[in-house]
Amino acid sequence: MPELDPAIQAFYERGSEAGRLTGGFPSGPLELERTRELILRVLPEPPLRVLDVGGGAGIHASWLVELGYDVHLIDPVPLHIEQAAADGRFSAERGDARDLPVDDGTYDVVLLLGPLYHLLDPSDRGLALQEARRALRPGGLLFAAAIARFAALLDMLVRLGTLHAQGAMAAVTHAVRTGEFHGAHHGMFTNAYFHLPGELQTEITDAGFAAPSVFNIEGPSFLVPDFEQRWADPSRRQALLDAARLVESDPGMLAAASHLLAVTHRP
Ligand SMILES: C[S@@+](CC[C@H](N)C(=O)[O-])C[C@H]1O[C@@H](n2cnc3c(N)ncnc32)[C@H](O)[C@@H]1O
Repeated sequence: MPELDPAIQAFYERGSEAGRLTGGFPSGPLELERTRELILRVLPEPPLRVLDVGGGAGIHASWLVELGYDVHLIDPVPLHIEQAAADGRFSAERGDARDLPVDDGTYDVVLLLGPLYHLLDPSDRGLALQEARRALRPGGLLFAAAIARFAALLDMLVRLGTLHAQGAMAAVTHAVRTGEFHGAHHGMFTNAYFHLPGELQTEITDAGFAAPSVFNIEGPSFLVPDFEQRWADPSRRQALLDAARLVESDPGMLAAASHLLAVTHRP
Protein backbone atom coordinates (compact mmCIF):
# COMPACT_ATOMS: atom_id res chain seq x y z
CA MET A 1 0.00 0.00 0.00
CA PRO A 2 1.42 3.48 -0.87
CA GLU A 3 2.54 5.47 2.15
CA LEU A 4 0.11 7.95 3.68
CA ASP A 5 1.54 11.32 4.80
CA PRO A 6 2.09 10.81 8.58
CA ALA A 7 0.56 14.25 9.33
CA ILE A 8 -2.68 13.23 7.56
CA GLN A 9 -2.68 9.86 9.32
CA ALA A 10 -2.18 11.54 12.73
CA PHE A 11 -4.95 14.08 11.99
CA TYR A 12 -7.51 11.35 11.25
CA GLU A 13 -6.34 9.08 14.08
CA ARG A 14 -7.64 11.80 16.46
CA GLY A 15 -11.09 10.43 15.62
CA SER A 16 -12.97 13.57 14.59
CA GLU A 17 -14.05 12.26 11.16
CA ALA A 18 -16.81 9.95 12.44
CA GLY A 19 -19.02 12.85 13.59
CA ARG A 20 -17.85 15.57 11.17
CA LEU A 21 -20.90 15.57 8.88
CA THR A 22 -23.46 15.06 11.62
CA GLY A 23 -22.58 18.02 13.81
CA GLY A 24 -18.83 17.83 14.60
CA PHE A 25 -18.18 20.53 12.00
CA PRO A 26 -20.78 23.35 11.79
CA SER A 27 -21.73 23.08 8.09
CA GLY A 28 -21.21 19.28 8.05
CA PRO A 29 -24.97 18.49 7.95
CA LEU A 30 -25.32 20.77 4.90
CA GLU A 31 -22.40 19.03 3.17
CA LEU A 32 -23.99 15.66 3.93
CA GLU A 33 -27.48 16.57 2.75
CA ARG A 34 -26.29 18.28 -0.44
CA THR A 35 -23.78 15.53 -1.32
CA ARG A 36 -26.51 12.94 -0.89
CA GLU A 37 -28.96 14.98 -2.96
CA LEU A 38 -26.50 15.52 -5.83
CA ILE A 39 -25.56 11.82 -5.88
CA LEU A 40 -29.15 10.59 -5.74
CA ARG A 41 -30.15 12.87 -8.59
CA VAL A 42 -28.22 10.64 -11.04
CA LEU A 43 -27.74 7.35 -9.20
CA PRO A 44 -29.78 4.54 -10.81
CA GLU A 45 -31.99 2.42 -8.56
CA PRO A 46 -30.38 -0.45 -6.60
CA PRO A 47 -29.03 -3.07 -6.86
CA LEU A 48 -25.65 -1.52 -7.76
CA ARG A 49 -22.11 -2.14 -6.54
CA VAL A 50 -20.63 1.01 -4.99
CA LEU A 51 -16.94 1.42 -4.07
CA ASP A 52 -16.52 4.16 -1.44
CA VAL A 53 -12.84 5.15 -1.70
CA GLY A 54 -11.64 7.27 1.23
CA GLY A 55 -14.98 6.50 2.82
CA GLY A 56 -13.79 7.44 6.31
CA ALA A 57 -15.97 6.11 9.11
CA GLY A 58 -18.75 5.21 6.65
CA ILE A 59 -21.11 8.16 6.71
CA HIS A 60 -22.08 7.88 3.02
CA ALA A 61 -21.84 4.08 2.96
CA SER A 62 -24.40 4.00 5.74
CA TRP A 63 -27.20 5.87 3.90
CA LEU A 64 -26.39 4.04 0.66
CA VAL A 65 -26.84 0.59 2.22
CA GLU A 66 -30.05 1.78 3.84
CA LEU A 67 -31.34 2.50 0.30
CA GLY A 68 -30.36 -0.99 -0.87
CA TYR A 69 -26.96 -0.41 -2.50
CA ASP A 70 -24.14 -2.90 -2.04
CA VAL A 71 -21.17 -0.90 -0.66
CA HIS A 72 -17.50 -1.72 -0.15
CA LEU A 73 -15.48 0.96 1.69
CA ILE A 74 -11.74 1.53 1.40
CA ASP A 75 -9.70 3.88 3.59
CA PRO A 76 -6.03 3.98 4.68
CA VAL A 77 -6.71 4.98 8.31
CA PRO A 78 -7.12 1.92 10.60
CA LEU A 79 -9.44 3.78 12.99
CA HIS A 80 -11.83 4.59 10.11
CA ILE A 81 -11.91 0.92 9.06
CA GLU A 82 -12.69 -0.09 12.65
CA GLN A 83 -15.51 2.49 12.87
CA ALA A 84 -16.90 1.64 9.41
CA ALA A 85 -16.78 -2.12 10.04
CA ALA A 86 -18.76 -1.64 13.26
CA ASP A 87 -21.80 -0.68 11.13
CA GLY A 88 -21.98 -4.30 9.99
CA ARG A 89 -24.12 -3.69 6.87
CA PHE A 90 -21.24 -3.07 4.42
CA SER A 91 -17.66 -4.31 4.03
CA ALA A 92 -14.63 -2.15 4.86
CA GLU A 93 -10.99 -2.72 4.02
CA ARG A 94 -7.73 -0.84 4.50
CA GLY A 95 -6.34 0.51 1.24
CA ASP A 96 -5.19 3.54 -0.69
CA ALA A 97 -6.90 5.34 -3.59
CA ARG A 98 -3.65 5.13 -5.61
CA ASP A 99 -3.58 1.32 -5.60
CA LEU A 100 -7.06 -0.07 -5.08
CA PRO A 101 -7.32 -3.69 -3.93
CA VAL A 102 -10.12 -4.45 -6.42
CA ASP A 103 -10.46 -6.22 -9.77
CA ASP A 104 -10.87 -4.30 -13.02
CA GLY A 105 -14.37 -3.22 -14.02
CA THR A 106 -16.10 -4.66 -10.96
CA TYR A 107 -18.05 -1.61 -9.71
CA ASP A 108 -21.03 0.35 -11.05
CA VAL A 109 -20.20 3.44 -8.99
CA VAL A 110 -17.05 4.87 -7.38
CA LEU A 111 -17.21 7.56 -4.69
CA LEU A 112 -13.98 9.51 -4.27
CA LEU A 113 -15.12 11.88 -1.54
CA GLY A 114 -11.90 12.74 0.26
CA PRO A 115 -8.75 11.26 -1.34
CA LEU A 116 -8.33 14.14 -3.81
CA TYR A 117 -8.18 16.53 -0.80
CA HIS A 118 -5.13 14.79 0.58
CA LEU A 119 -3.00 13.93 -2.45
CA LEU A 120 -0.83 17.00 -2.91
CA ASP A 121 1.23 15.66 -5.80
CA PRO A 122 -0.72 15.92 -9.09
CA SER A 123 0.64 12.56 -10.24
CA ASP A 124 -0.85 10.94 -7.09
CA ARG A 125 -4.25 12.50 -7.87
CA GLY A 126 -3.87 11.17 -11.41
CA LEU A 127 -3.20 7.67 -10.05
CA ALA A 128 -6.26 7.83 -7.76
CA LEU A 129 -8.48 8.84 -10.69
CA GLN A 130 -7.00 6.16 -12.98
CA GLU A 131 -7.60 3.56 -10.26
CA ALA A 132 -11.21 4.72 -9.91
CA ARG A 133 -11.59 4.35 -13.68
CA ARG A 134 -10.05 0.86 -13.59
CA ALA A 135 -12.44 -0.23 -10.83
CA LEU A 136 -15.50 0.92 -12.81
CA ARG A 137 -17.28 -1.01 -15.54
CA PRO A 138 -17.70 0.93 -18.82
CA GLY A 139 -20.56 3.37 -18.24
CA GLY A 140 -19.99 3.29 -14.46
CA LEU A 141 -20.37 6.54 -12.51
CA LEU A 142 -17.72 8.54 -10.68
CA PHE A 143 -18.51 11.07 -7.95
CA ALA A 144 -15.31 12.90 -6.99
CA ALA A 145 -15.15 15.66 -4.37
CA ALA A 146 -12.53 18.37 -4.00
CA ILE A 147 -11.97 21.23 -1.58
CA ALA A 148 -12.28 24.48 -3.52
CA ARG A 149 -9.27 26.78 -3.81
CA PHE A 150 -10.62 29.67 -1.72
CA ALA A 151 -12.43 27.61 0.93
CA ALA A 152 -10.00 28.28 3.79
CA LEU A 153 -9.61 31.96 2.92
CA LEU A 154 -13.38 32.47 2.99
CA ASP A 155 -14.03 30.25 6.00
CA MET A 156 -11.34 31.82 8.17
CA LEU A 157 -12.14 35.38 7.10
CA VAL A 158 -15.94 35.27 7.16
CA ARG A 159 -17.21 32.44 9.37
CA LEU A 160 -14.42 31.82 11.86
CA GLY A 161 -12.78 35.26 12.02
CA THR A 162 -9.42 33.56 12.58
CA LEU A 163 -7.43 34.89 9.63
CA HIS A 164 -5.41 37.15 11.95
CA ALA A 165 -4.28 34.18 14.13
CA GLN A 166 -0.65 33.09 14.26
CA GLY A 167 0.36 31.47 10.94
CA ALA A 168 -3.12 31.64 9.40
CA MET A 169 -2.52 34.28 6.74
CA ALA A 170 0.74 32.64 5.61
CA ALA A 171 -0.92 29.21 5.29
CA VAL A 172 -3.91 30.68 3.42
CA THR A 173 -1.73 32.79 1.11
CA HIS A 174 0.27 29.70 0.15
CA ALA A 175 -2.96 27.78 -0.46
CA VAL A 176 -4.47 30.51 -2.66
CA ARG A 177 -1.29 30.77 -4.71
CA THR A 178 -0.41 27.08 -5.05
CA GLY A 179 -3.43 25.04 -3.95
CA GLU A 180 -1.33 23.40 -1.21
CA PHE A 181 -2.53 23.91 2.35
CA HIS A 182 -0.19 23.17 5.26
CA GLY A 183 -2.02 24.35 8.35
CA ALA A 184 -1.70 21.41 10.74
CA HIS A 185 1.05 22.95 12.85
CA HIS A 186 -1.22 25.93 13.60
CA GLY A 187 -4.15 23.78 14.69
CA MET A 188 -5.97 24.21 11.35
CA PHE A 189 -6.93 21.43 8.89
CA THR A 190 -4.21 18.95 7.93
CA ASN A 191 -2.15 18.93 4.70
CA ALA A 192 -4.48 19.26 1.75
CA TYR A 193 -4.87 20.30 -1.87
CA PHE A 194 -7.48 22.92 -2.82
CA HIS A 195 -8.67 22.72 -6.44
CA LEU A 196 -9.69 25.35 -8.93
CA PRO A 197 -12.83 24.09 -10.73
CA GLY A 198 -11.15 23.89 -14.16
CA GLU A 199 -8.23 21.99 -12.69
CA LEU A 200 -10.55 19.36 -11.24
CA GLN A 201 -12.25 18.98 -14.63
CA THR A 202 -8.90 18.60 -16.42
CA GLU A 203 -7.53 16.05 -13.94
CA ILE A 204 -10.67 13.95 -14.39
CA THR A 205 -10.69 14.03 -18.19
CA ASP A 206 -6.91 13.37 -18.26
CA ALA A 207 -7.61 10.14 -16.34
CA GLY A 208 -9.90 8.94 -19.15
CA PHE A 209 -13.33 9.98 -17.87
CA ALA A 210 -15.99 11.84 -19.84
CA ALA A 211 -16.09 15.62 -19.20
CA PRO A 212 -17.60 16.00 -15.71
CA SER A 213 -20.35 18.27 -14.45
CA VAL A 214 -18.98 20.16 -11.44
CA PHE A 215 -21.30 21.28 -8.63
CA ASN A 216 -20.83 23.69 -5.74
CA ILE A 217 -21.96 21.48 -2.84
CA GLU A 218 -22.68 23.97 -0.04
CA GLY A 219 -22.93 27.19 -2.08
CA PRO A 220 -22.44 30.32 0.02
CA SER A 221 -24.37 28.77 2.92
CA PHE A 222 -21.23 27.36 4.59
CA LEU A 223 -20.16 30.91 5.41
CA VAL A 224 -22.86 31.95 7.86
CA PRO A 225 -21.38 32.38 11.34
CA ASP A 226 -24.55 31.20 13.16
CA PHE A 227 -24.94 28.06 11.04
CA GLU A 228 -26.11 25.75 13.85
CA GLN A 229 -28.97 28.07 14.93
CA ARG A 230 -30.16 28.53 11.34
CA TRP A 231 -29.94 24.78 10.61
CA ALA A 232 -32.05 24.04 13.70
CA ASP A 233 -34.89 26.29 12.44
CA PRO A 234 -36.87 24.65 9.57
CA SER A 235 -37.50 27.80 7.49
CA ARG A 236 -33.95 29.12 7.91
CA ARG A 237 -32.57 25.65 7.08
CA GLN A 238 -34.65 25.69 3.91
CA ALA A 239 -33.10 29.05 2.97
CA LEU A 240 -29.58 27.62 3.47
CA LEU A 241 -30.43 24.68 1.20
CA ASP A 242 -32.21 26.84 -1.40
CA ALA A 243 -29.25 29.25 -1.55
CA ALA A 244 -26.90 26.33 -2.19
CA ARG A 245 -29.19 24.90 -4.90
CA LEU A 246 -29.64 28.29 -6.57
CA VAL A 247 -25.96 28.61 -7.51
CA GLU A 248 -24.88 24.97 -7.58
CA SER A 249 -23.89 25.13 -11.28
CA ASP A 250 -23.05 28.81 -11.57
CA PRO A 251 -19.50 29.00 -12.99
CA GLY A 252 -18.86 32.33 -11.24
CA MET A 253 -19.63 30.85 -7.82
CA LEU A 254 -17.69 27.58 -8.22
CA ALA A 255 -14.36 29.02 -7.10
CA ALA A 256 -16.00 30.40 -3.94
CA ALA A 257 -17.26 26.96 -2.90
CA SER A 258 -16.28 24.99 0.16
CA HIS A 259 -16.49 21.62 -1.61
CA LEU A 260 -16.89 20.78 -5.29
CA LEU A 261 -18.52 17.59 -6.57
CA ALA A 262 -17.56 16.30 -10.03
CA VAL A 263 -19.99 13.85 -11.60
CA THR A 264 -19.00 11.81 -14.64
CA HIS A 265 -18.77 8.30 -16.09
CA ARG A 266 -16.25 5.88 -17.56
CA PRO A 267 -16.76 5.92 -21.36
C1 LIG B 1 -12.51 14.51 4.90
S1 LIG B 1 -12.47 12.77 4.96
C2 LIG B 1 -13.94 12.35 4.01
C3 LIG B 1 -14.58 11.07 4.45
C4 LIG B 1 -15.89 10.72 3.73
N1 LIG B 1 -15.65 10.21 2.39
C5 LIG B 1 -16.81 11.92 3.63
O1 LIG B 1 -17.10 12.38 2.53
O2 LIG B 1 -17.26 12.39 4.68
C6 LIG B 1 -11.15 12.32 3.86
C7 LIG B 1 -10.93 10.82 3.82
O3 LIG B 1 -9.95 10.52 2.82
C8 LIG B 1 -9.13 9.49 3.33
N2 LIG B 1 -7.85 9.50 2.59
C9 LIG B 1 -6.80 10.33 2.74
N3 LIG B 1 -5.82 9.98 1.89
C10 LIG B 1 -6.27 8.92 1.19
C11 LIG B 1 -5.71 8.07 0.18
N4 LIG B 1 -4.49 8.27 -0.28
N5 LIG B 1 -6.45 7.05 -0.29
C12 LIG B 1 -7.71 6.83 0.18
N6 LIG B 1 -8.28 7.58 1.14
C13 LIG B 1 -7.57 8.61 1.64
C14 LIG B 1 -8.99 9.83 4.81
O4 LIG B 1 -8.55 8.74 5.58
C15 LIG B 1 -10.40 10.27 5.13
O5 LIG B 1 -11.21 9.20 5.53
